[in-house]
Amino acid sequence: MPKQSYRIVALPGDGIGPEVLASALLVLNSVRELFKVDFEVEDIPCGGHYYAEHETEWPEGSFEKCEAADAILLGAVGHEVNGRPVFTKPGKPYPEPQLAGFAQVIGNRKKLDLYANVRPVKLYPGVKHKIHGKLVQVWDPEKVDYVVIRENTEDAYTGEIETIEDGRITPIRITRGATERVVRYAFNLARRRNKQNKVTCVDKSNIVGAHRFFREVFREVGEKEFPDLTLDYAYVDAFCQWQIRSPEWFDVVVGPNLVGDIVSDNGATTAGGLGLAVGGNIGDHHAMFEPIHGSAPKHAGKDKANPMAAILAMQMMLDWLGERYTDDRLIRAAVAVESSVAEVLKEGKTLTYDLVGDEHASKCSDVGAAVQSKLKLT
Ligand code: IPM
Ligand code: MN
Repeated sequence: MPKQSYRIVALPGDGIGPEVLASALLVLNSVRELFKVDFEVEDIPCGGHYYAEHETEWPEGSFEKCEAADAILLGAVGHEVNGRPVFTKPGKPYPEPQLAGFAQVIGNRKKLDLYANVRPVKLYPGVKHKIHGKLVQVWDPEKVDYVVIRENTEDAYTGEIETIEDGRITPIRITRGATERVVRYAFNLARRRNKQNKVTCVDKSNIVGAHRFFREVFREVGEKEFPDLTLDYAYVDAFCQWQIRSPEWFDVVVGPNLVGDIVSDNGATTAGGLGLAVGGNIGDHHAMFEPIHGSAPKHAGKDKANPMAAILAMQMMLDWLGERYTDDRLIRAAVAVESSVAEVLKEGKTLTYDLVGDEHASKCSDVGAAVQSKLKLT
């Protein structure tokens, strides 16, 4: 049932996070007016800069607010002091140091059980790529359209560290439960997309025993429960080059956490770069949406970063909320926001430096306003 008002927690975080999120929230304001749907947005300060000042990654009670929200929108985390990333101090709050901002990204993914990280690799018409410093069109938009599903709670991301005499060990943990649900998510998505009806399992199972288990579970679930789909297999190293050379081979791709982290950035190369790459962290009861670029400290505060990924993250949030609460207004709004983004990209007049070069670059806030101005009630 549609809700009267949706509670959104905004986590701007560090670096360019606040700027790009502001553009996404600007577009959300227009959604509110045009589609007559209400959102209560609460901003929570957090991340590495917050830690550097307060020795805690966010104010007390913030996780509970995330838990109570209908959806979370994250900017980016990762702060630098004197050119070095801020890590938490031992014991505050983790036994071993972690990247400050861990609570927002890894903590929320794990504690809210956001087990599938959904990262579309989709090239919009008109988008150029910076290759050898020149802007060129390399890939065909009709041939770059697949979705990476990244397992989001384990693999090398458990946060565990063991210090040994001459180094450190971080475990790679793959469990049946976490693998079954994420591969099911991927198989169901392939059915819903109904394009190639194919799911590619990407891993390093030729050498990493835990990944071999991931692949076995993928095969088991696929053969038993999804006989209508084609099961496809790739080792991550080879997959990285196929992503660049022949992205049209892929429809839905699923892999362990670290593999998914890497191949989603690599895939972004063929879809306009990280300025356009978006991720939805999805669980059965909660979800968090984010641009997958980092906090880019060197660009922070300059109003130059590309806000498109943050806007598309907000768009994915509308779609997810619309499905979850069978709210047609939100589903239509999601379609409308994507169309506005596509229009601004195609026109090519108001885009940031990464897509048009420094000479023709518009500001981050201007791109947000351009997307907002194109938004239409549908
Ligand atoms: C991502 C990021 C994070 C990750 C970092 C910031 C911990 O790279 O969302 O892809 O590795 O998952
Ligand atoms: Mn990443």
